[in-house]
Amino acid sequence: MQKLHIEGGRPLFGHVPISGAKNAALPALAATLLTADTVRLRRLPNVVDIRTMTTLLQNIGSAVKRSPDSCEFVAKGDLDPVAPYDLVKTMRASSLVLGPLAGRCGRARVSLPGGCAIGSRPIDMHLAGLRSLGATIRQDRGYIEALAPRGGLVGGRIHFRRPTVTGTEDLLMAATLAKGESVLGNAAREPEVVDLANLLIKMGARIRGAGTSTIRVEGVAELGGADHAIIPDRIETGTYMVAAAISGGDLTLDGAQPEHVQPVIRKMRSAGCEVETPDATTITVANGRPLISVDVTTREHPGFPTDMQAQFMALMTQCEGESTVHETVFENRFMHALELQRMGAAITIDGSFANVRGKTRLSGTDVMASDLRASACLVLAGLAAEGRTVVHRIYHLQRGYERLADKLQAVGANIRVVD
Ligand code: UD1
Repeated sequence: MQKLHIEGGRPLFGHVPISGAKNAALPALAATLLTADTVRLRRLPNVVDIRTMTTLLQNIGSAVKRSPDSCEFVAKGDLDPVAPYDLVKTMRASSLVLGPLAGRCGRARVSLPGGCAIGSRPIDMHLAGLRSLGATIRQDRGYIEALAPRGGLVGGRIHFRRPTVTGTEDLLMAATLAKGESVLGNAAREPEVVDLANLLIKMGARIRGAGTSTIRVEGVAELGGADHAIIPDRIETGTYMVAAAISGGDLTLDGAQPEHVQPVIRKMRSAGCEVETPDATTITVANGRPLISVDVTTREHPGFPTDMQAQFMALMTQCEGESTVHETVFENRFMHALELQRMGAAITIDGSFANVRGKTRLSGTDVMASDLRASACLVLAGLAAEGRTVVHRIYHLQRGYERLADKLQAVGANIRVVD
């Protein structure tokens, strides 16, 4: 199994190109199932989760044509509306095909996702939403089956118990082909939801309010083709912002979207970093001064993203004073803290709170990644640590970061993938 070797202690300088957002690309891929016409997607990141979703679409019956800067998807003819266990078990976001398949085919059969390293992640809100659109939901031998009424899904009112990102995306897609109006209340406001809505609107959907808590959808009889570029990855952007700061370097992030990372920019500045946004697609981060402690509470957008929590914890180990993390989105999302402790960090955990006392000297050792963002946290800690850090289980990183080792090498990191 591949590992990453990192020799720490080198400040990073230079430019990092930001890739398309994995979490915006996944629902965009699912949306291609809503039409028999061609949907062309640009800026799809070349990461494992995107390849898994593409395989899932091909299993269902889509034809996929790749070219150097885009990919075309055509879902026509007989579709087999099933997401099998083998694919869903490696990627929970496979449940994003439930809504589009129920809307387009009147039927969807999706394996239940298994356990996950960041707590139990149910899909009950996706299912309750589909019921509100008239679907009957059955559970059968580990699979969820959604069956639309004879004439197809019907518009309805959905109120999410709490904002759910993929839940909102799933129901948004289902509602585009439902008869009549649907209202999604307490919807997620993440930029990825807005990007999906923009793609669906290009395909002919009638959607208002994406990016706010109330989204209204007027169902249409059918959707058509579109050409769409995925938004830049705000979590990858935030990860390289921390890389600049934790290594004591100076990085320019190209092709980013500063407005999507405002909560991260604010916290970086509170920690004493110099962050500038010279234009609409560039962010510079420099760290010439000692870092100071900062507190972070994760929240739904526009709050501080839970997907940046682990990376920030690595940064906090290098800040003078006591920093607190309050994780409010997921339970059990502190696995990386135990690995950071093994590198010398002073962290105590109390339920959904973590307390980090800094600045501590980190020393390189063997560490094990438990999920995607935890892996990124360990790479960042490795950049700041003395000696060699070996990150095991890097398949987690390969699920979501495009060419991570190459991008870090290009700005001066001593990092390499080892078989
Ligand atoms: C998405 C992101 C993930 C990010 C998360 C929160 C993708 C592919 N993944 O995950 O990277 O960490 O948003 O920003 O976009 N919940 C329920 N029932 C449900 C659905 C969710 O109880 O039916 C709970 C979850 O357990 C969690 C909270 O709601 O506590 C928010 O989760 P959600 O926004 O749904 O996360 P994902 O969409 O799975």
